Amino acid sequence: MKDQEMPLCLAVGGGKGGVGKTVVSVNLATALARHGARVVVVDTDFGAANAHTLLGVERPGATLQAFLNKKVASLEEVVIPTAAPRVFLIPGVGAIAGAANLAHAKKVRLLKALRGIDADVVLLDCGAGISFNVIDFFLLADLRFVVATPELTSIQNAYSFLKGSVHRLFRHQCTDAEQRKRIDTAAGGETERVSELLEKVQAQDPELGARLYHCLEWFQVGLIGNQIHSNDAEHVMFAFSRMTGDFLSVNVPMVGALGHTQRIVRSVVQRKPFMLEDSTSKEARTLMDLAERVLETNVYDLRENRGPVDVMTEWGPDVEPAELPRPVTQYRRQHDRFAVGWTALVRRGVDAYQIQLSDISSGGARLLSGDFLAEGDAISLSIEGCAALSAIVRHVDDRYAGIEFLNEVGDDLQAKLDKAHQTAAA
Ligand SMILES: Nc1ncnc2c1ncn2[C@@H]1O[C@H](COP(=O)(O)OP(=O)(O)OP(=O)(O)O)[C@@H](O)[C@H]1O
Ligand SMILES: [Mg+2]
Repeated sequence: MKDQEMPLCLAVGGGKGGVGKTVVSVNLATALARHGARVVVVDTDFGAANAHTLLGVERPGATLQAFLNKKVASLEEVVIPTAAPRVFLIPGVGAIAGAANLAHAKKVRLLKALRGIDADVVLLDCGAGISFNVIDFFLLADLRFVVATPELTSIQNAYSFLKGSVHRLFRHQCTDAEQRKRIDTAAGGETERVSELLEKVQAQDPELGARLYHCLEWFQVGLIGNQIHSNDAEHVMFAFSRMTGDFLSVNVPMVGALGHTQRIVRSVVQRKPFMLEDSTSKEARTLMDLAERVLETNVYDLRENRGPVDVMTEWGPDVEPAELPRPVTQYRRQHDRFAVGWTALVRRGVDAYQIQLSDISSGGARLLSGDFLAEGDAISLSIEGCAALSAIVRHVDDRYAGIEFLNEVGDDLQAKLDKAHQTAAA
């Protein structure tokens, strides 16, 4: 099957065990199915598969193990229906010793077969940990989600997981051992940020450097905050998102926040996705919205630009756990910031540019595709229905520009912000 014809592939990962990856996977799958998609969830947790339990499948029968051991000829033979209409499951391998270290040849066969599944969406529920097997499934996907809770250990694991993913993504772009060594060497020593690593590689091998920049640009990860029970918890997630942008040069926007709810606790006990019966809770609306955005993805565009994902090569060292580079609190904002999809006009001197805002607070904003700006530029920002604001550009990278307002926002914009706040809190 050609790359372009393969179903849209999502991966849900996150490093730490028990943070809610499977809860998110089965409920996002159910939300996608409620929008009409045929979804196959693949339990790629080779250590402790349990997606079947949350999907109401008592005894999975044939599992991924049967396919890996060639007991069945095709992956289709282990696809089973679940408690959710249009959601199917490829059950994972139970806690079998050694299963977590999937042999390379088996993995290649599995990855190829995943591309041929008959579905609209294939959703990979990744296991815990940062071993390269887990990360390879994560990288295979078109769109990826990291699930994290505001707990420090979860944040730390999510950071390690993302850092490991970026390094492995870079290694996937290499054509020979020399290039891989170049990346490994550039990553060592004093290199703290991926941007520094990229500069080093670029200086030695501009062609490889350009490829790395390009693949990073198309590396899409959304952050799903779980067990978000307060504003404070939400701020931790936003801070984490900014820190990954700063250190890993990956834009990991928060695409959804789920609270701790009895409904979810109950649904686990009842072995049914809560999304089957819930349309009104904040969690249900979050997942329905996210599913809608997922289904709007232009997968052709994504794959064409990203190029082929080479997961077929046997790769080197396992990913090292990484410390958080800074306390996440350093990335907290002074003002509440909200994700918005507003368009606005940026003026710099006599030039005017129409841009999109990704988020805004009463202290500043983040502009999508603001790469025509440079740090230190003085600009004015006009948001529809509001007076223009003077601002200074504080940060620019390939994907966005961060600006700081020079004056207090006017009543008109404050009213808009309050409304955005209410919507976010609802
Ligand atoms: N938002 C939530 N509200 C209430 N309980 C939750 C929520 N999210 C997760 N849980 C609880 O946490 C448990 C673990 O969640 P889940 O199995 O999804 O974690 P996981 O990240 O997939 O773990 P593993 O890495 O072991 O596969 C669930 O069984 C459920 O009881
Ligand atoms: Mg799980």
